[in-house]
Amino acid sequence: MARSAKLLLLLAAVIYILAASFAVPASAARRRAVRLQLYMHDIAGVTAVQVVKGTGPLHPSMPPGNRHFGDTTVMDDLLTEGPSLESSPVGRAQGSYVLAGLVDPVVVVTATFKLTHGPYNGSTLVIAGRDEVLAEVRELAVVGGTGKLRRASGHVLWRTVEVLEAGAHYVLELDVYASLPATAASALATN
Ligand SMILES: *[C@@H]1O[C@H](CO)[C@@H](O)[C@H](O)[C@H]1NC(C)=O
Repeated sequence: MARSAKLLLLLAAVIYILAASFAVPASAARRRAVRLQLYMHDIAGVTAVQVVKGTGPLHPSMPPGNRHFGDTTVMDDLLTEGPSLESSPVGRAQGSYVLAGLVDPVVVVTATFKLTHGPYNGSTLVIAGRDEVLAEVRELAVVGGTGKLRRASGHVLWRTVEVLEAGAHYVLELDVYASLPATAASALATN
């Protein structure tokens, strides 16, 4: 092979490698991390109201022992910065949970966290998932968001840290690990 032909081949190979290394798919674009710790106050009869009473037999494993498959509760729970009800409010968890385990003590939660303080004031996170109430840590999904949290995705670790008022007031610690498209904030600014 002539020397110039070899050079051309080498050049073509270099161009090919360079092109391949710059061809980053859009899905691999960098995302920004969102890390939040919140406490949720689920207070039976006050911020969490049962609206449907399941009609089946008593649930075999769900505490406190008077629950039925299908029991449905609607909540508008206060979110605070610390575990105390008196600590700074940071938002509301609005949604519902349904006792959806026939045998296991599992509620399925659908909630929107409306944030009212801090850098995400006015934005929401949409949460969905399975809460096996007796497990020490439960993992639910962050399936979306609005405002500055638009297109959020990730997960929330959900822990019961205190049960007050003879079981009426549950304090849950929520650790949100989510991410946003790196462009979400700038996209918002132009809308
Ligand atoms: C959150 O945003 C609302 C609406 O813009 C505003 O009225 C309120 O003062 C803000 N809260 C905080 C704590 O910044």
